Amino acid sequence: MKVLVTGGLGYIGSHTCVQLIAAGHQPIVIDNLSNSKLEVLNRVEAISGVRPVFHQGDVRDEAFLAGVFAEYDVQAVIHFAGLKAVGESVAKPLEYYDNNVNGSLVLARAMRSAGVKNIIFSSSATVYGDPQEVPITEDAPTGATTNPYGRSKYMVEECFRDLFAAEDDWSITLLRYFNPVGAHSSGTMGEDPQGIPNNLMPFIAQVAVGRREKLAVFGDDYPTPDGTGVRDYVHVVDLADGHLAALNALTDKAGLHIYNLGTGKGSSVLDMVHAFSAACGHDVAYEVQPRRPGDIAECWASTAKAEQDLGWKAQRDVSQMTVDTWRWQSQNPQGYQE
Ligand code: NAD
Ligand code: WQD
Repeated sequence: MKVLVTGGLGYIGSHTCVQLIAAGHQPIVIDNLSNSKLEVLNRVEAISGVRPVFHQGDVRDEAFLAGVFAEYDVQAVIHFAGLKAVGESVAKPLEYYDNNVNGSLVLARAMRSAGVKNIIFSSSATVYGDPQEVPITEDAPTGATTNPYGRSKYMVEECFRDLFAAEDDWSITLLRYFNPVGAHSSGTMGEDPQGIPNNLMPFIAQVAVGRREKLAVFGDDYPTPDGTGVRDYVHVVDLADGHLAALNALTDKAGLHIYNLGTGKGSSVLDMVHAFSAACGHDVAYEVQPRRPGDIAECWASTAKAEQDLGWKAQRDVSQMTVDTWRWQSQNPQGYQE
């Protein structure tokens, strides 16, 4: 099937394109290159043997989208495009609401005009805020997020909920990712953050490869087994396969479908440091610092619903996540070079 992939040159989008092609689908990629490089297309082609169709453009540009829908017989959309840095969203709320909320609304409008009513949206476990209990099930309360990025994801979920209530011939799937990490097993594709990484795994990887001196561990006084924050890290290729599973199970199945994509297992910051040290063969230097404002103690997914309805279950463990990240980071110490 022809699948429009917005933000398809980004970290999760690029891995999803590879899995889509491997499954015989045809990704039509759009991206404004605000957080990615054209070199990614070469890497997707080298892995897949197929160069995806690519159009540079913005999801907020309705005329651009109309042109893409007119040119290709798109059956479903996977919508990754957006901004994702929590700290930056506090400083630039208007940019975040414009890209993430307005971008999703313009896309939905263009889809309706084109008669395409299947969409899979990249949501986030951040919509659960600080969970009352773990593992988190999909019916847990949402909305109590603490930053504009998280609120933008929640708002888009609510917009799609209202859209489905008004037009029940849509198939809308909200996938709530936990903490995506890892890289393609070839070592040629991975996460390439610009500037200082905000997230744990890319920061550890840059310490391991010598780009940064040491990791700051944000707090060791949480009510967790070793005092550091616990998260549900999920391999990006498993995540990509989750999109494929959703596409297969839900395209043309009208409804508002909501799934967690995680492993169901929690790992602490120090678990990740130790796993990475084993993967790269030397200790990763770290220093404990105060808690980061807005962080929660722990969060991991209930995976039962995705397993039951989509037949999807993450296959790769933390060891595989760190080994693959290290292969990518050590082969591409400065990320993608054009
Ligand atoms: P990414 O930044 O690597 O990819 C996003 C891509 O979208 C980039 O290539 C960027 O250039 C493009 N883009 C941004 N704004 C655009 C616009 N207005 N028009 C067209 N293209 C645009 O991020 P990612 O990690 O691959 O995340 C993909 C999606 O998943 C995002 O929506 C993100 O919020 C969501 N998500 C990510 C995580 C995570 O930790 N990586 C967790 C939960 C949810
Ligand atoms: C993980 C753990 C930190 C960096 C964020 C977003 C969420 C989603 C995924 C997009 C925490 C600790 C981190 C560092 C550290 N993104 N840490 N030193 O905060 O769980 O989730 O990314 O949707 O919405 O909020 O991920 O990787 O930043 O942190 O000690 O330099 O690592 O305190 O316990 P987080 P993270």
